[in-house]
Formats: sequence, structure tokens, C-alpha cells
Amino acid sequence: MIKHYNTIITGTGAALPDQIITNRDLEEMVETSNEWIVSRTGIRERRKLEDGLSNADLSEKAAREALSRAGVDPLELDMILVATVSPDHHTPSTSCILQARLEAFKAGAMDISAGCTGFIYALSTAHQFISSGTCKKVLVVGVEILTRFTDWEDRSTCVLFGDGAGAVVVEATEEDRGILNFSLRSDGRGAKLLYVPAGGSAMPASHETVSNRMHYLIMNGNEIFKFAVKVVEDTLFELMAEENKKPEDLDMIILHQANLRIIDHIRKRLNLPPEKFPVNIDRYGNTSSATIPVAMHEEILAGRLKEGDLVAMVAFGAGLTWGGVLMKW
Ligand code: UT7
Repeated sequence: MIKHYNTIITGTGAALPDQIITNRDLEEMVETSNEWIVSRTGIRERRKLEDGLSNADLSEKAAREALSRAGVDPLELDMILVATVSPDHHTPSTSCILQARLEAFKAGAMDISAGCTGFIYALSTAHQFISSGTCKKVLVVGVEILTRFTDWEDRSTCVLFGDGAGAVVVEATEEDRGILNFSLRSDGRGAKLLYVPAGGSAMPASHETVSNRMHYLIMNGNEIFKFAVKVVEDTLFELMAEENKKPEDLDMIILHQANLRIIDHIRKRLNLPPEKFPVNIDRYGNTSSATIPVAMHEEILAGRLKEGDLVAMVAFGAGLTWGGVLMKW
């Protein structure tokens, strides 16, 4: 008989760059206002990685903290998964660079690209490796250096994004807790609602692509907003229905931090108190794959996320992709 293990998170870590860009700073750069940014998004400031550092530097910092809190030596890792759309290079993967830095010489390593849903995809993938018995310990990192792919002349995007990394160590357990179920979805018909036009094989880098500013993120914010409010609610109900539970049974709902209005909308639809919805978008902006693991780490440090809690995490983003994980902490 095949033995199935449960998947628990045993350690978390986060790394945010020191440099803060406030809304007032942005007022000096593009035609915007603190009032517009706060009222439309909830963002007050975001972090920007200093020149000379890269994705792997921030990933390593978050990963080392998660490993230390889990009490796991890098040599015990069976797999490293890095969720990112802003890797150090097209190839090799950032996970391989991280693997070498950590000297995690027994681990496989791969990057996962699923837009802002990246961490949910990576955590679900780790769960598959663990529940099947293939891996015992997996490091999952959600990290973005989006300020390097942001057009600082485009006010519709540059006010939104920030840099950050969150990491978790997931392990096999026979305890009756851990990941209960997950949902991973996509709709590639929306690929161009949020994308970087040039730099890939479809449109290799050229003088023309650089002068036309085609290596930066382009987004149709309105369409993503409408898609987000629908899929977040659908995903939450799907996760809960599978366990015969209702939203009010949840102790915490960690939503992707893309817009405070999306979080508030879902909270009101579910009629749940604000304490159940961690928020860090005010301080970090949208850090894409990093928003959920960073929020999770902060909730643990604050003592608000405790063993036995029923926790849902839901994200959405480029692809289009969306998905969620339900777990008994
Ligand atoms: O992580 C997943 C990816 N991203 C998202 O989830 C983002 C989802 N979308 C959103 O959060 C919102 O759609 C935005 C915050 C991006 C935009 O908010 P909105 O309420 O949908 O504004 P809008 O795009 O409809 O723009 C309204 C107005 C426009 O002016 P006009 O055409 O009405 O004259 C924009 O040009 O606001 C203008 N605008 C700005 N004004 C001041 C757009 N960006 C700015 C800005 N400052 N930074």
C-alpha cells in the first residue's frame, strides 16, 4: 500500500530590501498623487532592491531564515522550488543559483513561473512531492524583483509593484494536520492582460525593443481587477466545499496583496472580520509571488497564526493563473 504523508510548514522567513519608495517619491517621478495611490490601491510605500543585488540575494536571505527557524540543514533538503517571474537570468534557474549558495547539494532545483500565483503553484508542487513520499523536506521561495521590470515612466504600473522574498520549509509528517487541499487554475486567453512583450523568443531583445520600452510590464489593470474578485471568491468556496466547511470556519485568509480594494471586497462578501485578513500591501506594494509567504511569516512572528488554525491562501495573476491552498496549520 502506498503511504501518503501530510505536508506541514515548519519554518518561514522573509527578506525585504532596505530602500523605501514612498508615494511622495513617486509624485516627483510621474503624474500621480499620494491620495490617488492610497485610495485606489491601499499602497503607501514599497521596497526597491539596491543596485548590484539580485533575486538570488533576497531569496538566500529569506531561505536562510526559514531553514534556521525550521531547524533544517540545507543538506537535508530534497528539493528547492523558487516561484518567480523576475529571475536572475533566463537560464540557469534562480533555484540552482540558490542551491549552490546554500550548499544544498542533495536537492533538486527548479523555478516555477505562474505570475503572482507562483507561490501557490510552488507550495502545491512541494505538497505533491511530499504526500507521494518522493521528498521529505522541500524549500519553497516566493520572490520578485519587479522594480527591475517596471517602467518608471508608466504611472499605471510603477506605483503598484515592489521587491520582496518569502520562504517556507515544508516537511512530511504523520500528524493529523497540514495541507488539506489545493486548486490550481489558468486561462491563457488572458496572457496579454499582464505581460512583458520583449526579451523572449517571440520578440528577442534588440535596439528597437529597448528604445520602445518593451522590456517592461504592461498591464490592463481594470480587466485583472474584475477577474481577480471573481476567481478569489470562487477558489475560496471550492477549497472549503471539498472539506465540507464554510468561510466562517476559517481562522485566517491570506490573500495575494495586489490591491486593498480586492481584499476588502472579498472580506465584505464573506462577511468576515478584518483581523482574519493579513495586509502588508500598504508597506510593500504588490510583491507578486512574495506577498503570501511574507504575510504568513509576519503573522507567525506576531503570534496570530497558530497550530491547528484553518488557513486559506488564494492568489491570482499573470497567465492568467489563479489558485489556492487550504491547510490546518
Ligand atoms: O497581482 C496581479 C496583477 N495586478 C493586479 O491585480 C492589479 C489589479 N488592478 C488594480 O488594482 C486597479 O485596476 C489599478 C489600481 C491598477 C487601477 O485602478 P482603477 O480604479 O482600475 O483605475 P483605472 O485604471 O480605471 O484608471 C482610472 C484613472 C485613469 O484616468 P482617466 O482615464 O479616468 O482620466 C487613469 O489614467 O486613473 C488614472 N491613473 C492614475 N492617476 C493617478 C492610472 N494610474 C494613475 C496613477 N495616478 N498612478
